[in-house]
Amino acid sequence: MLRSGGVVAFPTETVYGLGANALDAAAVERVFAAKGRPATNPVIVHVADIEQLGEVVAEWPEEARRLSARFWPGPLSLVLARHPRIPAIVTAGGPTVAVRMPAHPVAERMIRAAGCPVAAPSANRSARISPTSARHVLRMLDGRIDLVLDAGSTPGGIESTVLDLTAEPPVVLRPGLIGRDELSAVLNRPVAIGEPDSSVNIASGLPVPPDQESPAAARSPGLQARHYAPQAPVECCRQGSRQRVQELAAAGKRVGWLHWQGERQLDDPHVEHIAMPRDAGEYAVRLYAALHRLEEAGVEQIIVDFPPNEETWLAIRDRLRRASR
Ligand code: TXA
Ligand code: MG
Repeated sequence: MLRSGGVVAFPTETVYGLGANALDAAAVERVFAAKGRPATNPVIVHVADIEQLGEVVAEWPEEARRLSARFWPGPLSLVLARHPRIPAIVTAGGPTVAVRMPAHPVAERMIRAAGCPVAAPSANRSARISPTSARHVLRMLDGRIDLVLDAGSTPGGIESTVLDLTAEPPVVLRPGLIGRDELSAVLNRPVAIGEPDSSVNIASGLPVPPDQESPAAARSPGLQARHYAPQAPVECCRQGSRQRVQELAAAGKRVGWLHWQGERQLDDPHVEHIAMPRDAGEYAVRLYAALHRLEEAGVEQIIVDFPPNEETWLAIRDRLRRASR
């Protein structure tokens, strides 16, 4: 399917990706159309071995070599100068390309069998929750993709760390499972963080805006047909989540509550409880599954106990902030 221009959802160690032959612009366009992804957002190219980098990146600097030796296969995407063979749609027209070698046996064997680098964003509709199971993929993309390879739940839970090596100093564009300190240690120099870890808007969570239709979807009305499930607004609380949940439930709202493990449950049928681990790694594994579950349960509002301001929670805070926008 990949060789003939199809789009295939597949598991990685982070989340499920929606893949297409990275050297085939028309195939990658189908990925954008299936997701409703704006053409301005570039996608990550996945390789199964170092040899495949030859048609993906224009240069392979010493620092990329060191980072790949330490973290690949694994959840680290490196932004480097783009090879001319990579079509513009993959990089959103830009001069750089993000590349990673996933650490999942199914992903590795799929890419090898296809014999081409695989461009793959997360396998969700644009601006919706990333999938950590094949079922999550089908919730959003059934009928819009050719195939999903089901290998159960993904072990990592949140997306890869994206590190821009073309910036000086290198900058983390998206925090992920590999922390800045680990990258710094291998590079033996400081690494910057792209977006400041600003504090979250606790007052109110705004619903995520509706998906933007891609140009391909505009041309092909069939691609626009979808069941639009309104997403419940997410509100993060540094403290007082219990009171906030009680308040909303008392007003008759169906509330999902992501609280810390050990919190006493409320005796109120309006409230869906999900107990979250106090370890950042375990929290990451469960986060998207928890949000999918609450979305499926049809809650009208989601209240989250916001994690502490520590570096180990950086990626989780980032994802929760995005969910609450
Ligand atoms: O773990 C992951 O990275 C998953 C799995 C499937 O590999 N993929 C994933 O893809 O999360 P996606 O498209 O949901 O997120 C890719 C991120 C986006 O924030 C995008 O803007 C950024 O990587 N990105 C991709 N190419 C880039 C480039 N050339 N320069 C800067 N950022 C780039
Ligand atoms: Mg994504």
